[in-house]
Amino acid sequence: MFSIQNVTLKREDHIVFENLNLTIKAGEKIVLLGINGSGKSTLLKLMNALEFPDSGEMLYEGKALTKSALKHKQVNEDFRRNVGLVFQNIDAMLFNPTVYDEIAFGARQLEFDDVDARVRNYAELFGLTPYLNHVPFKLSGGQKQKLALACVMSLSPKVLLMDEPTSALDPASTAKFMEIIAAQPITTITATHNLAIAPRLGERVIILGEKGKILYDGSSENAFEIELLTKAGLII
Ligand SMILES: Nc1ncnc2c1ncn2[C@@H]1O[C@H](COP(=O)(O)OP(=O)(O)OP(=O)(O)O)[C@@H](O)[C@H]1O
Ligand SMILES: [Mg+2]
Repeated sequence: MFSIQNVTLKREDHIVFENLNLTIKAGEKIVLLGINGSGKSTLLKLMNALEFPDSGEMLYEGKALTKSALKHKQVNEDFRRNVGLVFQNIDAMLFNPTVYDEIAFGARQLEFDDVDARVRNYAELFGLTPYLNHVPFKLSGGQKQKLALACVMSLSPKVLLMDEPTSALDPASTAKFMEIIAAQPITTITATHNLAIAPRLGERVIILGEKGKILYDGSSENAFEIELLTKAGLII
């Protein structure tokens, strides 16, 4: 589904990734761990073609994700329809006058013919039905996070990229979120700092270290060894 080949990315004088190689198969559920600044958000943005490598290649379903390829309307629309990203900074995602319009925005852009049903269905799933006429930026932090998830999931993406999607959720909402994700037969890649829920977010764990180096890529069964997590700076 995704193939990341020898990707190098520098920001200012700082190397974010150096010769990064990763392959992600359709249907995988991946948990992305790593200390602050290790590159989790940048990796998700590369996979969402919001950032582009300085060298190396990002492939989605065998096709190169380049700025020039995405200039073609059809290619861009197909990609945006299939790959959704829930940002770490949710406020950057919310700009519509009501919660209803916020969820409807993507479905209207993609000209779905069941916009209203999608809005109501995903609002209900995330407990947002009472807020459909509210202004998004006045919601609580957790409600905004649920709204961001509803917006992206309502487009039925094949790949769901989520950047710390539970950072503002209360425990009951976090449990509900995990249930929702587990029930989705799609590829998910979830960046999180929450080690308590990480094993339940995916069977494959990728741990990034300094300069985006992959410290671990494997089964969640062996990912939570104290020695590994200590070395990766994820526990103290
Ligand atoms: N637009 C940018 N300009 C300059 N540097 C950037 C930019 N975006 C990211 N970086 C740098 O790239 C590195 C990786 O950042 P990134 O946000 O991907 O880390 P992260 O793993 O998501 O961290 P966190 O756990 O804090 O969310 C950091 O050193 C950061 O300073
Ligand atoms: Mg981040």
